Amino acid sequence: MRRDDEALRPRSLDEFIGQKTVVAHLRVYIQAAILRNEPLDHVLFYGPPGLGKTTLAHIIARELGRDIRCFSGPLFTRPGDLAAALTTVTPCDVVFIDEIHRLPRQCEEILYGAMEDFTLHVLVGKGPAARDVAIHLPPFTLIGATTRVGLLSAPLRNRFGIVERLDFYSDEEIAAIVTRAAQLLGMTIAEEAAQAIACRSRGTPRVANRLLRRVRDFAEVLGQKHIDCGVVERTFRELGVDAWGLTKMDRGFLRVLCEQYAGGPVGIESLALVLGEDPDTLEEVYEPFLVKMGFVARTRRGRVLTPSGREYLKKVVLHEG
Ligand SMILES: Nc1ncnc2c1ncn2[C@@H]1O[C@H](COP(=O)(O)OP(=O)(O)OP(=O)(O)O)[C@@H](O)[C@H]1O
Ligand SMILES: [Mg+2]
Repeated sequence: MRRDDEALRPRSLDEFIGQKTVVAHLRVYIQAAILRNEPLDHVLFYGPPGLGKTTLAHIIARELGRDIRCFSGPLFTRPGDLAAALTTVTPCDVVFIDEIHRLPRQCEEILYGAMEDFTLHVLVGKGPAARDVAIHLPPFTLIGATTRVGLLSAPLRNRFGIVERLDFYSDEEIAAIVTRAAQLLGMTIAEEAAQAIACRSRGTPRVANRLLRRVRDFAEVLGQKHIDCGVVERTFRELGVDAWGLTKMDRGFLRVLCEQYAGGPVGIESLALVLGEDPDTLEEVYEPFLVKMGFVARTRRGRVLTPSGREYLKKVVLHEG
């Protein structure tokens, strides 16, 4: 991760802006775990990218006063790798597995016992001599994060006592995040400028911080330590980000859907092929916001352009001539 990202990351629940319900729940669960001197129940965070899942995992460990060990689902290829990672855990530690939906099935099965009674059941040897060896682990908290909760098997999902969905932030919340981030980056920012960045950030702190960094580049080159609306507008023009926060790829998505597939329904793979983008990226990064804006609907038979999506395209075509 970039040093700047680390610097902008809130470190406590008090510093964390937005996701009020999730934060309120976490406060209670964390306090209760501390009072009982027990590990916090396992937590699953899901939701679109860049909304704060990893950030919250770190905050939880910090609020519990425990260490966090971070892993990524696809890095485990064999059950033995996961078992080895879990045996290094000390009591009440937090184990964070990012992209938990990409954990191979055999590794998932190792997790069941580890989550339920802190026991690893490992198969040792092969053929008739093979036996199941139980390894006891200290109690720990597993935090899983995923952008694709639907891909998690039911047995795994059911073993999380706390399941929280992160949703897109309001423009006001993003404006507050932008203002805080600007200060951390050593800049001042006009309220309207923070709002202008917010309404183009797709309700996503990561996007907001990325846009802010580009705006800062333009401001600094102009010799400004203050960010005003002028420099924000100029940056967005350069980046091709429109008033709705849509980028060239989003517009491409809507255009292909409208012009090549007569508004759908069409499968994500076909769209991905035409756009030259990976289907998972389209589905996880671009589509959720288009759905949230009401421009695209997901149906059983595929993606459909909605009347508002058509309206938007008309405006864009008019605008672009
Ligand atoms: N509530 C918040 N307040 C301030 N900044 C935030 C907040 N949530 C997230 N951020 C910022 O947004 C960035 C992205 O957050 P994070 O990495 O936690 O997202 P994520 O949900 O884990 O994304 P992914 O699904 O891609 O892993 C972080 O670097 C952090 O600085
Ligand atoms: Mg993350």
